Amino acid sequence: MDQALIVRLESSFQLLAPRGAELVDCFYCRLFAEHPEVRPLFPEDMREQKKKLLTSLVLVINNLRTPEKLLAPLHQLGRNHVAYGTKPEHYPIVRDTLVAAMIDLAGPAWNSQLTCDWNSAIDLVSTIMLEGAVEK
Ligand code: HEM
Repeated sequence: MDQALIVRLESSFQLLAPRGAELVDCFYCRLFAEHPEVRPLFPEDMREQKKKLLTSLVLVINNLRTPEKLLAPLHQLGRNHVAYGTKPEHYPIVRDTLVAAMIDLAGPAWNSQLTCDWNSAIDLVSTIMLEGAVEK
C-alpha cells in the first residue's frame, strides 16, 4: 500500500472516528434496510456488534504501516465469519454499505478519491479474511 494512500485513509478516518458510533449505526441501518436477507445472521441486540466492528476498523487503520500485524487477526476474523454464515458474496455488499455510510457522515469533506481508496482498503481486508476462511 503506497504512502499517499495510507495518509488519505488515516486522515479521512480521523475525520470520522469522533463519530464512530454514528458511523456504525448508519452502516447497520443501511445494511439491514438494503439487504434484509443478512439480518438473520446477526444477533437481535446489535450493541456489542457495533462496538466490535468499530474496534476492528480502528485496528486496521492503526496498522496500515505495519500490515504484517494484521494478517493473523484478519485470518482469524475470516474463519469466525464462516461460522456466522457469511458468504464471499456478502463482502462487496458490506464494503459498498460501509463506504456509503462514510460518504453520508463525512459530507463535503468526502471526494471520489476517498471512495476509491476505501473500496480498495476494504477489498484488501476482505481478501485477507477470505484467505483465513479457507485455511484448514
Ligand atoms: C470488512 C469486512 C468485515 C469486518 C472487518 C467485520 C468485522 C466483524 C467483527 C470484528 C465481528 C465481531 C466478532 C468477531 O470478532 O469474530 C464480526 C461479527 C460478525 N460479522 Fe462481520 N465483518 C466483516 C464482514 C462481514 C460480512 C461480509 C458479513 C456478512 C453479512 C458479516 C457478518 C457478521 C456476523 C453475522 C457477525 C456475528 C455477529 C454475532 O453473532 O455476534 N461480517 N464482524
